[in-house]
Amino acid sequence: MWIGVVTSMPQLIAAGLSDGVVGRAAATNQLDVELFNVRDYAMDRYGSIDDHPFGGAPGMLMMAEPLASCTDDAIRKSPVEAPKTIFLSPQGKTLEQSMVRELSELDAMVLISARYEGVDERFIEEYVDTEISVGDYVVSGGELPALLVIDAVGRLVQGTLGNEKSAQDDSFGDNLLEGPQYTRPREWRGKTVPSVLTSGDHAAIAKWRREQALSRTWERRPELLTDRRLDSSEKAWLERHVNKRH
Ligand SMILES: C[S@@+](CC[C@H](N)C(=O)[O-])C[C@H]1O[C@@H](n2cnc3c(N)ncnc32)[C@H](O)[C@@H]1O
Repeated sequence: MWIGVVTSMPQLIAAGLSDGVVGRAAATNQLDVELFNVRDYAMDRYGSIDDHPFGGAPGMLMMAEPLASCTDDAIRKSPVEAPKTIFLSPQGKTLEQSMVRELSELDAMVLISARYEGVDERFIEEYVDTEISVGDYVVSGGELPALLVIDAVGRLVQGTLGNEKSAQDDSFGDNLLEGPQYTRPREWRGKTVPSVLTSGDHAAIAKWRREQALSRTWERRPELLTDRRLDSSEKAWLERHVNKRH
């Protein structure tokens, strides 16, 4: 997958990709991340990319033209003719794992991150296919949100994790949260690891993990279960679990 990032702070994206599984995938070109610095497309010798908003609102806005030329270049360098263009914005659709899965099917995308108080609306109208938010809060720039998208999507790109099953088992993999996990030592501060996990009985372990994921989801994020078809054994187990808790 190729990801072009339009940003005025490429060093932030580069720093975020300097380590970790997705960073390593980027370093080995399993994930091809190319950075485009909006400042390189400024139209004056001072490198200006922002100006005062019309109407006298506080703060500055990114001007349409430097962003447009920078995005044009990113689109030109993309390996596909019309990569999806995504603007990171608190006003966009909130990023969820289902969206991450859809994005991971793409061959290429251009992520556009802004600074200041945002961008001239006409740029959005002309260039943006979709707007993505990372949550109902405002951060000072689109670079961290872009890194979140790159990381979440990147770990689903084949070969990035080394073990595809670990992404399937992650929270939201099957509209379930992942259950509790344990590592050595078997006993820590008087707490022992559930005995089934050290039993060597793989079927029993798989069943236990499924049940833990179901109960954790029911306790913490019950709305996820309404979007998921439960089979009869899952339903029966969950009913028993719910009755036990009441
Ligand atoms: C300070 S914010 C501007 C917020 C803008 N004035 C508004 O109220 O919608 C600067 C930039 O950071 C990015 N950003 C901030 N919060 C974000 C969020 N929750 N999700 C995605 N991007 C965000 C966007 O690119 C945004 O244009």
